[in-house]
Amino acid sequence: MTATTSPVLSPNRISAPISAPGERFRAARRQTMQLSKPLTAEDMMVQSCAEASPAKWHLAHTTWFFESFVLREFLPGYRIFHADFAWLFNSYYESFSAIPEKRLRSSFSRPGLDEILRYREHVDAAMERLFEQEPEAEAWLRIELGANHEEQHQELLLTDILHAFFTNPLKPKYRDQGTKGTREQENRERGSKGARELPAPLGFQQFEGGLREAGNAGNGFCFDNELPRHRVWLEPYALANRLVTCGEYAEFMADGGYQKPEFWLSAGWDAVKHNGWRAPLYWSEDGGDQRECDQKECEWSVFTLRGERPLKELAATPVSQVSFYEADAYARWAGRRLPTEFEWEAAVEGQPVEGNLLDSSSLMPIPAKDFVQNENGAKHQDQETTKYYGDCWVWTSSAYLGYPGFHPLDGTLGEYNGKFMSGQMVLRGGSCVTPPAHIRASYRNFFAPETRWQFSGIRLAK
Ligand SMILES: [Fe+2]
Repeated sequence: MTATTSPVLSPNRISAPISAPGERFRAARRQTMQLSKPLTAEDMMVQSCAEASPAKWHLAHTTWFFESFVLREFLPGYRIFHADFAWLFNSYYESFSAIPEKRLRSSFSRPGLDEILRYREHVDAAMERLFEQEPEAEAWLRIELGANHEEQHQELLLTDILHAFFTNPLKPKYRDQGTKGTREQENRERGSKGARELPAPLGFQQFEGGLREAGNAGNGFCFDNELPRHRVWLEPYALANRLVTCGEYAEFMADGGYQKPEFWLSAGWDAVKHNGWRAPLYWSEDGGDQRECDQKECEWSVFTLRGERPLKELAATPVSQVSFYEADAYARWAGRRLPTEFEWEAAVEGQPVEGNLLDSSSLMPIPAKDFVQNENGAKHQDQETTKYYGDCWVWTSSAYLGYPGFHPLDGTLGEYNGKFMSGQMVLRGGSCVTPPAHIRASYRNFFAPETRWQFSGIRLAK
């Protein structure tokens, strides 16, 4: 339970201090509270799978990060809110303190939600005092890291509550479908009320390959795992112009995709048998309006943050909540493959970050379509350009490893990314619940290949 002094961050690993001091911190803190608004205190206690944490824990842990790595070292006279919180809300920093078992987080009925909210207020007020004192550059670097850390937990809060509500027999909605959102979302709503949405025809964008550079180019914040920038060789390749849709994935299922071992990696086939996988995580056969079914696919329904939806409505929507093994098996079945992380990065470098991210308020993938066909057969142009960001993180065929010359941050914060570089695959591009300021071309997400509770989908390559 003793805390060690955390290290000095190297400015060449976490780059320039933020341009609007404190504003990124305040925005991240506000956004977390905004996302937790639809939740009751009871919702915030649920931890429904091994990967997830209770929302209340996310509120506390993100606060713990600023207290532990910023205030304790850089605000003279800072008063710790509660001595036990220093270890109770530590996630995995072994060199910092003792750590409670992750599966026990749902047992933290004490401290209560009120006390966690007071903890947040205590730390936020102390941070404001720190800003008034014009902290040193090292403190700013840690504050920016803490804001990015909080954004990661915003995405986790939403993916964890989606799983929690999926396991609730009442299948509650995090947000009603009627909430006003983006033009794309309104199109989706329109599509579910009569118009039959069709996905954009699947095409491939060709890239020359050759000698390229990968890794963060140094213009702004990045994590240590995005460095150093280094050369990579790419053979000529092509990437699909959109993500694989639910309708296409249903065809894989109907063709016996989950029954034919020839499509699967050995470990993937073991996972299919061991877990009884028959469909993506949130697909179930007992939901939806059976009376409207006119084909096999609409016997399925898909659970989303906006409640349960018939698969029929989502046929043109990117498939989500699939594991690396399922993504890989689908690609084999389709006669394609998954992209490497460097093929994806080379394709998007220099492009603006645009796509269905958290700021769209869709809270679920939406169709990439070049036309909508209504009941009378009329079509109109909608979204014609390839968007590589948002909707779902895409599984790549790249193992999550350190780049040549990689050095984790020194000391305790070196545990942030580096120690997970074993047995995990890289995902790229962000999802419908990724804050837009959080994602970039060099950003590397990573999960174990059997992981399914994230918004993880498929972009084909050849
Ligand atoms: Fe964390």
